[in-house]
Amino acid sequence: MTLIEQVKAKLIEYDGKDMKRICHALKVHSFAKFIAECEGVEPKLQQTIEIASLLHDIGIHNAEEKYGSADANYQEIEGPAVAHELMKSLEISDAEKARVEYLISKHHTYEEIENEAMDYLILIEADFIVKIYEKKIEKDEVKDILERIIRTETATNLVKQLYL
Ligand SMILES: [Fe+2]
Repeated sequence: MTLIEQVKAKLIEYDGKDMKRICHALKVHSFAKFIAECEGVEPKLQQTIEIASLLHDIGIHNAEEKYGSADANYQEIEGPAVAHELMKSLEISDAEKARVEYLISKHHTYEEIENEAMDYLILIEADFIVKIYEKKIEKDEVKDILERIIRTETATNLVKQLYL
């Protein structure tokens, strides 16, 4: 099994019967992989993007249990520790694990998107591409997301083609 498939297996096992979250993570991963490949991201970074996109919402269950809420900030607090545990037995360097945990810890924080690295940007873009569909976000808001958040050419074209 490839490393990415191993991460997928961990995610599916951890999420149990929560098919909604499993599907969300698989969809975000698929778009993140697509954007990264189209943008010509180097292989090491591509791997970080794929792992982070699979695990980005992994804190939801703990957030709901501890705080009775799946709010973004609780997810960001809870996510990294769960991801750390899931990645423990996998062949991922400490630096990459730390980067994945960092990305999870701020994947709902969009203030300084201009200055962000490619892995962060692509994770956010893929999450939005899926969220616009899942949450039936209105066109006006999609235009706003396109202006404020979406940066890569691949994601820009996707959002326009799919939603505008
Ligand atoms: Fe998400």
